[in-house]
Amino acid sequence: MTVSLTLDNVTAHYGSTQVLQDLSLAIAAGELVSLLGASGCGKTTTLRLVAGFLEPTSGSIRLGDRDLTRMPAHQRDIGLVFQNYALFPHLSVRDNVAFGLKQRGLGSVERKAKADTMLERVGLSAFAERMPAALSGGQKQRVALARALVIEPPLLMFDEPLSNLDAKLRVDMRVEIRRLQRANGTTSLYVTHDQEEAFSISDRVAIMNAGRIMQLDRPEVLYQRPANSFVARFVGFENLIDMTVTERNGASVKATTPAGASVFLSQDVFGAIPDRFVLAARPDGLAVTRSEDGIPVTLGIRTYLGRAYQYQCMAQSGTYLGNGPLTEPLEPGTAASLVPVPEQCCILPSDA
Ligand SMILES: Nc1ncnc2c1ncn2[C@@H]1O[C@H](COP(=O)(O)OP(=O)(O)OP(=O)(O)O)[C@@H](O)[C@H]1O
Ligand SMILES: [Mg+2]
Repeated sequence: MTVSLTLDNVTAHYGSTQVLQDLSLAIAAGELVSLLGASGCGKTTTLRLVAGFLEPTSGSIRLGDRDLTRMPAHQRDIGLVFQNYALFPHLSVRDNVAFGLKQRGLGSVERKAKADTMLERVGLSAFAERMPAALSGGQKQRVALARALVIEPPLLMFDEPLSNLDAKLRVDMRVEIRRLQRANGTTSLYVTHDQEEAFSISDRVAIMNAGRIMQLDRPEVLYQRPANSFVARFVGFENLIDMTVTERNGASVKATTPAGASVFLSQDVFGAIPDRFVLAARPDGLAVTRSEDGIPVTLGIRTYLGRAYQYQCMAQSGTYLGNGPLTEPLEPGTAASLVPVPEQCCILPSDA
């Protein structure tokens, strides 16, 4: 049975310090959603609330039609996979996996059968009799995964499960987690501070900052259409330029930087452009040209990228990064212009 997880306006405190603020999150049945954000933004706290290790100050948490908000942790039936594996050192691999089944009152024959099936799924059949101390990090992680999956929980939660593994194993394991999660159709909440990991494993990603969700969307949408400056910066839009509309002519809009430089943008591309906005661009969204149009800049350091040259560009309104063609390398100190490449730019709400 797959169920949805819903957090509604959850606020949480440690003592008198607020760490989550009105956090709302809905995960559809069978969906994998990641929480992504810097250290201390409240990812683990969110998991602890759902697991029942911490009570929210206000708001509610539901799993399917069950209200978890004040339910004791041991009644919640959630599979947890943590960074440090937390295997029982005195139990064999098989007994570690079967542990939750024993707690649930299954007989020994059934326990062994289920544990062995799950060990086969994670590729550890040959290790059933081993003790955890005799396993590699990746193998331990797979035992922890098998142990969480074997109880067929309605919800799986992962907290940085791969951060102790080397780079190659991290990639292998995240594919593995995704495969098992899909196969079981288990609703999942996954915590990481690694953008690539979050984007590759998730149906949707919630980007968090200081106890709040800044945007929750599919990875493609976050990457191409961030909703605000915080998310834009997070996904690599290094240039954020404050703009004010100074002229409108049909679909064409003239927008001006605080220093008075202007660019032209089309509402046919961007949709309705508000009077004040932030123009967001990755370096390949700002073309460095010798033309007169665009934002006048003086070029600084040039970096060879293989597909283009990247320039540090000093404008009156700030320093930006733009890309120029390989055919025409320009020297530091050259006067040039930055012209937005519409398909590579976003219009964001003004922060002020
Ligand atoms: N037991 C606690 N008592 C007091 N404050 C805490 C406690 N646990 C966490 N905090 C604080 O709450 C905030 C959120 O912590 P949380 O562990 O949720 O962050 P996180 O996003 O998981 O970070 P990380 O990526 O470092 O694991 C932080 O400012 C942290 O210092
Ligand atoms: Mg954490």
